Amino acid sequence: MPLLEVRHLVKAYEGAAPAVNDVSFSIERGETLGLVGESGSGKSTIARMVMGLIEPTSGDVLFDGQPLTGLAPRKMRHLRRRLQIVFQDPYAALNPRMRVADIVAEPLIIHRACPRAGLRAKVSELLRAAGLDDSAMARFPHEFSGGQRQRINIARALALRPELIVLDEPLSALDVSVAAQIANLLRELQREFSLTYLFISHSMPMVRYLATRIAVLHNGRMVEYGDTAQICSAPREPYTQTLLAATPEIRIG
Ligand SMILES: Nc1ncnc2c1ncn2[C@@H]1O[C@H](COP(=O)(O)OP(=O)(O)OP(=O)(O)O)[C@@H](O)[C@H]1O
Ligand SMILES: [Mg+2]
Repeated sequence: MPLLEVRHLVKAYEGAAPAVNDVSFSIERGETLGLVGESGSGKSTIARMVMGLIEPTSGDVLFDGQPLTGLAPRKMRHLRRRLQIVFQDPYAALNPRMRVADIVAEPLIIHRACPRAGLRAKVSELLRAAGLDDSAMARFPHEFSGGQRQRINIARALALRPELIVLDEPLSALDVSVAAQIANLLRELQREFSLTYLFISHSMPMVRYLATRIAVLHNGRMVEYGDTAQICSAPREPYTQTLLAATPEIRIG
């Protein structure tokens, strides 16, 4: 059974063409599915439906075989621990008035996932996994660079030991060299914690580097879906060819 499956997903906002139109894909455990498409193609709308943050107009999201729609609040709360999201803007996602230690500890406290006495050690462990050290704990988000802030977001996303992480353009606001470092971190963490990723991006090289399979989105519709190597070497759709042509080859790692 795939860890995540979306079936005939539709999201229609009033007075506009559907933002997401009949999209179906699945993600196996331990796999990275790249969701790629230009701005406005519906990527974040899919991410929000997968996270249960917005309701689909129709269609289903199944996490580990369980439909997310219509789930009782208690069950949803339980499920929330198993899926996390990291957003594009590494600053907006962090509360500027909170110290890093509290930001990373917050999900643990909310979900009562760690005894108070063990919090500091747990936060330290999470920061280390994301490539930061204990000196980060007492500082505030504005004292960090974009890449470091994204590391803080990643540490926080890891706190509840999720199975699936939705990465909604986590590298797009970063310089190419910093983005490559974070991409490498994501790969290492995937191995270390047996993570499954839905990796959203408009950059073909990044998707190519991280994803085993790719879904190409155009105006809310999935126009291509398959193996990364196959799609990148022989794209079927003219739209995919345009995406590939628009992004120069960059070396990562
Ligand atoms: N709450 C909303 N109300 C109305 N329309 C919306 C809403 N949210 C998104 N849309 C529309 O849905 C479409 C898809 O938006 P979405 O944010 O999913 O695109 P995206 O692929 O994530 O783009 P980007 O690469 O810029 O992040 C857009 O046309 C957008 O204007
Ligand atoms: Mg988006």
